[in-house]
Amino acid sequence: MTKRVRVTDLREKKRKGEKIAMLTAYDATFARLMERAGIDVLLVGDSLGMVIMGEETTIPVTLDAMVHHTRAVTRGVEKALVVADMPFLTYHASLSDTVHGARRLIQEGGAAAVKIEGGRAVLESARRLVEIGIPVMGHLGLIPQSVHQLGGFGKRGRQAEDAEELVSDAHALEQAGVFALVLESIPGELAARATGELSIPTIGIGAGPCCDGQVLVSYDAFGLFTDFVPSFVKQYAKLGDLVIDAARQYADEVRAGAFPARQ
Ligand code: KIV
Repeated sequence: MTKRVRVTDLREKKRKGEKIAMLTAYDATFARLMERAGIDVLLVGDSLGMVIMGEETTIPVTLDAMVHHTRAVTRGVEKALVVADMPFLTYHASLSDTVHGARRLIQEGGAAAVKIEGGRAVLESARRLVEIGIPVMGHLGLIPQSVHQLGGFGKRGRQAEDAEELVSDAHALEQAGVFALVLESIPGELAARATGELSIPTIGIGAGPCCDGQVLVSYDAFGLFTDFVPSFVKQYAKLGDLVIDAARQYADEVRAGAFPARQ
């Protein structure tokens, strides 16, 4: 990567048929490593509630926590596009709440864009943010902040009616000005259809190979978070095992008096 990735570059990538690589990041060290690997987009996902904070869902994640982690990530990168999740119920109650939350993520956190979950329920928020110059990424399909309403983390868009609703929400979000759309846990054919109909890029997670890009929770992809591994995840490393081995070896050496070595 030679220059900073901008939201406008993603549409250009779609036009040229170049796939977009996105991973989640929560701190400066990992963000720096992922940027060195050439990842285009780093998402400060509210999945940090689960993989960093040890919660069962993303719901307990606060705006303060998101600002804190976003700041850490943006300090670690120079080129990757950093997108920050707006947490649970920070973009629903009023437009002034929405603007306040986005302002904090952009101004205090240093993000270049925010992500919001949902379709027509959040259109007004998306429209307002875009209108005042804040790039917005959408998120449809399995929207984890609605886990209680959805009845779990299962696949979405399997029924014809749900599939139609998703496609129509996707068009409405594009009309509202979102620059890209995450499609989570939906059938591959539905993701392919939305990708073909939209001019903004789609980023899939558990949505098959036809999206314009892919995203994974980095802790899943690196084999660090193994409490629950969704079936669509590919573990590119087993860092969790490496950490356990290293920590065990360290403990053994400390207990045996082998570390530190005598000078
Ligand atoms: O919070 C998150 O990590 C996300 C990704 C799963 C897309 O929203």
